[in-house]
Amino acid sequence: MERFLIKGFDSKGVRGKINCSGAKNAVLPLMASSILFNDTITLKNVPLGTNDVKTMVVLLKSLGSKVQIIKKKKILKITNKKKHKLLVKYKYISTMRAGVLVMGALLGKYNKCITALSGGCSLGPRPIGFHLTGFKKLNCKYYLKQGYINILAKNGIKGGLYSFPKVSVTGTSNLIMASVLANGKTILKNISIEPEVLDLIKFLKGGGAKINFIGKRTIKIYGVKNLEGHSHEVIGDRIEAFSYLCTAAITKGKIKVDKINSKYLEAELKVLKNIGCNIKVSKYSIELSRKKKLKQAKIKTSPFPGFATDCMPMLMAVLTKSNGKSVIEEKIFTNRYMAAPELVRMGATINIKGSKATIIGKTKLNGADCISSDLRSTFAIILAAMAAEGTSCIRRVYHGLRGYSNLYNNLKKIGVNIKRKS
Ligand code: EPU
Repeated sequence: MERFLIKGFDSKGVRGKINCSGAKNAVLPLMASSILFNDTITLKNVPLGTNDVKTMVVLLKSLGSKVQIIKKKKILKITNKKKHKLLVKYKYISTMRAGVLVMGALLGKYNKCITALSGGCSLGPRPIGFHLTGFKKLNCKYYLKQGYINILAKNGIKGGLYSFPKVSVTGTSNLIMASVLANGKTILKNISIEPEVLDLIKFLKGGGAKINFIGKRTIKIYGVKNLEGHSHEVIGDRIEAFSYLCTAAITKGKIKVDKINSKYLEAELKVLKNIGCNIKVSKYSIELSRKKKLKQAKIKTSPFPGFATDCMPMLMAVLTKSNGKSVIEEKIFTNRYMAAPELVRMGATINIKGSKATIIGKTKLNGADCISSDLRSTFAIILAAMAAEGTSCIRRVYHGLRGYSNLYNNLKKIGVNIKRKS
């Protein structure tokens, strides 16, 4: 299993430029939605280096899609020549929860599917109750048999009304995909307006779907007969951008992240600014440098446009170096502080009580042996290792490779003293 050995910076921090990849959480629903189209769709700016994208390619192929990868150009072409298989096997859902996204697309196109039920994951329980209740409002019935959810709209998907009890990102994408070819009008309320969901809406509309916002979190969808294949550029990955900005924040360095719309990170950039980072923003790039001491922060995670839960572990690592006491409240997942014990192993003081984490800065970090246990905590541990004295060994970095393209090379490029060992 691959490990990273990282030696902390002495005085000068990271320097350089990173080109942001296409967003993992945008491309996965876009790929799933390819099932709805009659002909070929082309996706550009695809983060082909991420393992989740590789898994989604295998999943789509298992259902019968033809997938062409043009690696050098970061392009995926997906063609549906024959009827898809309607069974989504457990092995795809167990390694990548986003596998549930094909459920909405299969239902939208074929009015039925059988999908392995996802369990919890390291972030806590990951229920799909909202997805299922929403499908019911679209004329579907479902039952669970041997770990698989069997869903059927016997008389076809019919437009309906569903209001999400709580904002759900993949829930919103699934319900949109199930509705775009439905018979009649669907209204979805309290939807996620994360940039990745808006990218899916843009893509579907480009193929002929009729989706309109009639409120800040409400959309109206008129079912259409079919969707025409077309070409689409995936938006930049805001979480990847934030992660690399944090490398300069924690090491007193300077970094520029290109190919990212700064509007996707307004809440997060405000926090980095408030704790003492200098930030220069232009439409498609963000530059961060830090000379001053870091100040403490108090944040709560929330759905977009609030502070993203996916950015929280990296901010927690940065705050171990701030002066004073910081408080984070995680409002989305019940178990998102998995980086904390590893940071504590390096010398950080972090106390967790329920959904709140209190970080007492400014502690000296020392290199240590660490284990990463989910995607974002991998980057948080990498950040702490960069700011620690001595060398850290980070095990199970494969978690990070699920969602960060070129992780090792990018870190090397900005001056991180990193070695890879298997
Ligand atoms: N929830 C329910 N019932 C449901 C669905 C969700 O109670 O049927 C709850 C969840 O338990 C959670 C909250 O609603 O408390 C939000 O969950 P959501 O459904 O929005 O999460 P998700 O769609 O499964 C996506 C991202 C995650 C990201 C979350 C929150 C993808 C593929 N995944 O997950 O990304 O953390 O939204 O923004 O888009 C990551 O990239 O590291 C990652 C975990």
